[in-house]
Amino acid sequence: MIGRLNHVAIVVPDLAAAAETYRGVLGATVSAPLDMPEHGVTTVFVTLPNTKIELLHPLGEDSPVRAFLERHPAGGMHHLCFEVADILAARDRLAEAGLRILGDGEPRIGAHGKPVLFLHPKDLNGTLVEIEQV
Ligand code: CO
Repeated sequence: MIGRLNHVAIVVPDLAAAAETYRGVLGATVSAPLDMPEHGVTTVFVTLPNTKIELLHPLGEDSPVRAFLERHPAGGMHHLCFEVADILAARDRLAEAGLRILGDGEPRIGAHGKPVLFLHPKDLNGTLVEIEQV
């Protein structure tokens, strides 16, 4: 059911420093920082040949990644995002299998303008997973 790995999201304490490491040291293509107030993050997209890395930094006091950064001051992997063709069919199948869907269970428009859902990390080996309809 799941398709391509759309992105790996990493929360970082210093967005400019992290972007420079990916660009200057690792030699990747890196976007300019983009504020996403509706998601409470500032993002830098790192484009790799087979997927993307999203560097996330809290934006605003009630940012959903602020507590994560407090628990992991050096930063850390936050979630994986898998592509699905039909997010409602995917949600129903996952819920039927006993996986918990976060929030109210209805897809929200994610950082790429496409519908997304998040799955409870305790149901997926301690990993927060996002599914995105592409
Ligand atoms: Co994501």
